[in-house]
Amino acid sequence: MKEQLEKIRRDAMEALEGVNDSAELEALRVRFLGKKGELTAVLKTMGSLSADERPVFGQAANNVRAAIEEKLEEAKLELKARALDAKLESEAIDITIPGTPVELGHRHPMNKALDEAKELFISMGFKILEGPEVELADYNFTKLNIGENHPSRDRSDTFYVTDDESVLLRTQTSPMQIRAMEAMKTPPIRILAPGRVYRKDEVDATHSPMFHQIEGLVIDKGVTMADLKGTLETLIKAMYGEDSVIRFRPHHFPFTEPSCEVDVQCFKCRGKGCPTCKGEGWIELLGAGMVHPKVLEGCGIDPNVYSGFAFGIGLERMAMRRYKISDMRMIFENDIRFLAQF
Ligand code: PHE
Repeated sequence: MKEQLEKIRRDAMEALEGVNDSAELEALRVRFLGKKGELTAVLKTMGSLSADERPVFGQAANNVRAAIEEKLEEAKLELKARALDAKLESEAIDITIPGTPVELGHRHPMNKALDEAKELFISMGFKILEGPEVELADYNFTKLNIGENHPSRDRSDTFYVTDDESVLLRTQTSPMQIRAMEAMKTPPIRILAPGRVYRKDEVDATHSPMFHQIEGLVIDKGVTMADLKGTLETLIKAMYGEDSVIRFRPHHFPFTEPSCEVDVQCFKCRGKGCPTCKGEGWIELLGAGMVHPKVLEGCGIDPNVYSGFAFGIGLERMAMRRYKISDMRMIFENDIRFLAQF
């Protein structure tokens, strides 16, 4: 019987040495220590032993059991360690491999031109304002002294949002003049309001139904047309170079009086006339004027005490001239080969 026990111990030790997975391990546990296992089978024969032999044999059997149990535990830990090693190996990452380079985006030429303009106006004490693109007709037209029958209100020019024509996509950033005056109430007011505007225009080299404007407004005591000229001259020289030649031409806007348009001499032909300026020698840049007393009054500002000027610049046109882009469609196509040039 002693030999039998020794054989079980040897077999168990040998078998447990080469265990490959936990299923195999469990099978071996059952085989040696289970209820119907080899050790149990030997113990069941103990009844045939004498009273003296029995404790000695029992002790020996317990030793074998303990040894097998210990070996089982060892094998289990070994399996666990091996599993961890395998996992670490399969999931290994080489942190020294250089990463995939991220292709950085590029600032759009229009945003570059806008940022330049913003910087300049901030340095002159202007605040940057933003307002709604879906606007009330009241702000887009009525409060800007634009009469009920003015052609710009026509459905063929303006995108209305409601059937009663009280809400629309703003056709200009000028409603921001009203919003600024209503919000700030007491002058001095100096704001710059860039943003999208919408008009029912066909797409061509110089038109788009959606484009951008920059609105400017200054209200204070004693503001004159000379301040308007000085401010716009500063902008244009910063944008197009100190040698830019500009001219102020009388014009009409319902919300400014007097009104003007500002042209810059064609940078291509220097005023002689060429295809870029359509033979004019001059390129129209913006509309401007002294804020109409009616508009001031409507916003609760006394025109006998305060005066001011306003201007509206087409941002696409400004960027096109700044970066010598010949077709407005290129600005909106977002072809990376085009954008990467700026
Ligand atoms: N809002 C005018 C336009 O879109 C431009 C403008 C702005 C004119 C401010 C005068 C004063 O044509």
